[in-house]
Amino acid sequence: MIDLRSHYEAHGQGHVFAHFDSLSTTEQQALLEQAAAIDLSEIASLYESLVKGGGAKDDSLLEDLEPADYIPLPGHREDANASLWRDAVLKGEAALRTGRVAAFTVAGGQGTRLGFEGPKGTYGVTPVLNKSLFQVFAEKILAASKIYGRPVPWYLMTSVLNHEETVSFFERHDYFGLKAERVHFFTQGFMPAVDAEGRILMSGKGEIALSPDGHGGALRALVRSGSIRQMEADGVDILSYFQVDNPLVRCLDPTFIGFHLMNESELSSKMVPKAYPGEKVGVFCEKDGKTLVMEYSDLPPELTNATGPEGKLRFRAGSIAIHLFNRDFIDRIGGGDDEGARLPFHLAHKKVPYVDASGTRHEPETPNAYKFEMFVFDALPFARNPVVIETERSDDFSPVKNAEGVDSPRTCRDDQLRQFSRWAQAAGIDLRTDETGLPPFTFEVSPLFADNASRFKKAWDALPHKPVLTDGLVLV
Ligand code: UD1
Repeated sequence: MIDLRSHYEAHGQGHVFAHFDSLSTTEQQALLEQAAAIDLSEIASLYESLVKGGGAKDDSLLEDLEPADYIPLPGHREDANASLWRDAVLKGEAALRTGRVAAFTVAGGQGTRLGFEGPKGTYGVTPVLNKSLFQVFAEKILAASKIYGRPVPWYLMTSVLNHEETVSFFERHDYFGLKAERVHFFTQGFMPAVDAEGRILMSGKGEIALSPDGHGGALRALVRSGSIRQMEADGVDILSYFQVDNPLVRCLDPTFIGFHLMNESELSSKMVPKAYPGEKVGVFCEKDGKTLVMEYSDLPPELTNATGPEGKLRFRAGSIAIHLFNRDFIDRIGGGDDEGARLPFHLAHKKVPYVDASGTRHEPETPNAYKFEMFVFDALPFARNPVVIETERSDDFSPVKNAEGVDSPRTCRDDQLRQFSRWAQAAGIDLRTDETGLPPFTFEVSPLFADNASRFKKAWDALPHKPVLTDGLVLV
């Protein structure tokens, strides 16, 4: 203990223990555990390079930056190859039937923009039943398990902020019909927030202000938690990655899996053409023969708005944060053995309430703290044969990020309604929608009834007594 305190003092972080003697034994123990898990040299060097270095963006990254190529959807580009898409789906279905694919959700974030206190996955999103994001994913995974005849394991990454609440939510809901032993939770790592002088902030007298280390922390957390070994034991070698905020996602998409396998890719991604230049999505780019994602905040306006010969956006391949990772690739990057393949940290300037050395609590009104986060897409340049495929936005992406306006509960609910309506119309049901595809009333299709248009038609045709599509109808 003395060692740890003097170690902190030697690093100019002795204030972390300023109130140590006034803490209870349990509180002291908790603080010591937090402090022991922090790598002070790493914090010092991140502070030097990212904060003192002015958070300087590496402008050399922008030199010779080109848009990344992608596999276009049939009919979307002259070179699109429909037979390749037919092959991919068969290949992906075969992989799902052998049980080698697991689902993986990153759910360790804070969801501050939504203004919702609990874990974001517990937020209700569906039009009639207001099912939570977690329930929607669980039912999609359950549906895939039934379709392909193999129970699909589900890995969920939580963080210090929401682990217990997340697990108890699943317990309370009986894992939404999934087998508990097939749902694997693990927590991601954390990093302390520092002030402008590089001093670690305290959220209480005996508590360091910690925040999750970014979704890029998933790779090392998957290794550290033993999840990778569990996958190996279960014969899983591909992980289907998606964010907790997007209920439209096809959690286990055979076509995507097929392309990943056909290209012997270690990391594949989905893109949609950006809806408008300023859309807040990362963009797939290429530099020195490597594929990478430039976050929207890092792409300068002249590139964000640049257009090509046909007047289309040049950098238009928007990342919707859906990927397939090979297990071996995660092991290599997340295990940290490959020194040359470490994910960099990015800097976030945020408001973090804190307690100072005199014990006074401060609620800052302007950003006072620096947080360090890794982004999972920074693994792309290290991957062999990365593949980017195009997908229909309306069938894969409608995130809930903001309380109002774009990417809000309202837009997401409407996008679900449009999808259900398209399925109903394709099955021959007489349903009039407005010019945006919205039906005149609210209804809901459970993923257990159908999770795409052709399965909807099959399930609908098989119904002995067809219900009238009216307000509040739920097809289960
Ligand atoms: C993210 C992507 C952006 C992409 C967009 C698509 C980043 C930096 N940007 O933006 O390129 O186009 O989604 O919707 O990710 N999470 C953790 N642990 C963390 C931090 C986040 O698990 O430490 C999870 C969140 O729970 C969430 C996801 O990562 O599921 C996305 O995080 P968020 O910070 O909301 O990303 P966006 O800025 O929306």
